[in-house]
Amino acid sequence: MCGIVGYFGKRKASDILVDGLRRLEYRGYDSAGIACVYDGSIDVVKNPGKIRALRERVQQSPLKSIKNATVGIGHTRWATHGQPNEVNAHPHQDVSGHFAMVHNGIIENYKAIRSGLAKHGIECVSETDSEVLVQLIAFCYKGNLEEAVSEALKQVKGTYGIVVMSDHEPDKLVAARCGSPIVLGLGRNETLVASDASAIMPHTRDAVYLEDFDMAVITADGMEMFDLQRAPVNREVMAMDWDAGAAEKGEYAHFMLKEIYEQPSAIRNAIRGRLDFEMGTAVLSGLDFSPRDAAMINRVLVVGCGTSMHAGMVGEYAIEEMAGILAEVEQAAEFRYRNPIITPSDLVVAISQSGETADTLAAVREAKNKGAVVAGICNVVGSTIARETGRGVYLHAGPEIGVASTKAFTCQVSVMLMMALKIARTRRMPLNDGEVLGRWIERMPELVEKVLEQNDAIKAVAQKYAKCDNAFFIGRGYLFPVALEGALKLKEISYIHAEGYHAAELKHGPIALLQKNTPVIALLNDVPGKDKTLGNAEECKARNAPVIAVVSEGDEKIADEFSDVIVVPDCPPCITPVPTAVALQLLAYHIAAARGCEIDQPRNLAKSVTVE
Ligand code: AGP
Repeated sequence: MCGIVGYFGKRKASDILVDGLRRLEYRGYDSAGIACVYDGSIDVVKNPGKIRALRERVQQSPLKSIKNATVGIGHTRWATHGQPNEVNAHPHQDVSGHFAMVHNGIIENYKAIRSGLAKHGIECVSETDSEVLVQLIAFCYKGNLEEAVSEALKQVKGTYGIVVMSDHEPDKLVAARCGSPIVLGLGRNETLVASDASAIMPHTRDAVYLEDFDMAVITADGMEMFDLQRAPVNREVMAMDWDAGAAEKGEYAHFMLKEIYEQPSAIRNAIRGRLDFEMGTAVLSGLDFSPRDAAMINRVLVVGCGTSMHAGMVGEYAIEEMAGILAEVEQAAEFRYRNPIITPSDLVVAISQSGETADTLAAVREAKNKGAVVAGICNVVGSTIARETGRGVYLHAGPEIGVASTKAFTCQVSVMLMMALKIARTRRMPLNDGEVLGRWIERMPELVEKVLEQNDAIKAVAQKYAKCDNAFFIGRGYLFPVALEGALKLKEISYIHAEGYHAAELKHGPIALLQKNTPVIALLNDVPGKDKTLGNAEECKARNAPVIAVVSEGDEKIADEFSDVIVVPDCPPCITPVPTAVALQLLAYHIAAARGCEIDQPRNLAKSVTVE
């Protein structure tokens, strides 16, 4: 998704803007640009392609504002309306050139606004929906920038996160948000604006998140916030718990590899202080419900997208098995639009690493509207889903920069297991069973470390299959969601067409696709149904498909008849998703690396999908 950076202060704006955009690269984009205002005029530098091309153009630019300004805005664009080219890139200007704006989101009624402006002789030059907004702001301008912005936004249908500036009022930035996140960084004699905290982290940890329909006016005196009716609003200043270094690659070739290797420490952070061995339960204070509240829950509905949905599926199995209550997982957009049946004894859990996924946010709002108790499992502090659910559990996994989610998945599963334990202990799970499960949860970082020690062996297997065009992942029980997740990882970063299936499902059609260069990754860990999955793997081998057997330590012999083996630590079924997922992350990573793919920013993908 698009990235926004704004700077108001005393330092050279263009350097800070380009560096901020570089920190947002992971979100996925196809063009980038900045605008600066200085000495009565606005200059813009923008182009399709990568930040490094923009940086070179900015460094060589003779434009006085780019060279001298201390106020500016920047944007990375993930194209929704119009090709990725210079005219469609942001920042957009009005016809007079006195206004510049960057926008995240979708202006749904942009055609109506565009034709209304045309009646006044104002012709847009780009194919984008965003440009009509800056043209409208200029059209509404009568001497006060924030009033013009507020008047224009009242006419907009859709979502926006924007920063606007004008050379009529060069000592001012105006930011506003509806449905597309905007965070302000409050520095020493400077204020930053961004769509994501990673762009402001190097400068300050004091952050203010705008709520929907908020506007912020930034000047040398600081920042003031209003609603669209220009009434003052107050928002909490949050201390971000990330350090700037956490959002750097360090000695790793890719953010994804760094984040795969961060998983032991990330999981330790996710479980720290949340296991009560004396009572054999989990302490999830952010869920803000007592054992009595937990005992009143009759059903848990998990909503999420992509990897987060897969983590929810593991939670569904754990909650039903341990707590003996109904649990269901649904793709967030499906949940939101199918008019779900919700009762007050339902707990709806929204899982979202970014806390900004539009489909998941929409599902949260639908569930709240139907009276459900809603909780969020998010990684980004202060994110929209975290704030709108009002209760939940932060992952504390640190920033996840790679588009392909890795440490977030294993931390989400860790939290779901602790949630299942908490609910189970308010029902029939005995204390000592709770303590045993807690000890296994506590051991998960160690299990992941053992998988990471297999990196070279997994890399050797990966290189045998790097030229394949198709692949299947099969698993049962707790490993069925892991099969789906392993396939998603491989799809996302290697562009191999990989499908995850329940092991029993292959023979009901997909097996028709098997051939000698279509590997099947069979999850044969020691879980209930392993022998059936072994039979399914043999059916694949009988059709000349190479089988990569993922087996539990000590069970290697069952892999003797297959092409390759990946060994993961033996552990209870509900724990197997974490070490097994890490093995499949490494497999996908090394296949993608062997194929020379753009691993951290795969084509067409965005880290946080803030549009529906
Ligand atoms: C996972 O590797 C993908 N990047 C994607 O499926 C992601 O999990 C999904 O978009 C949900 O994102 P969220 O967790 O931030 O809501």
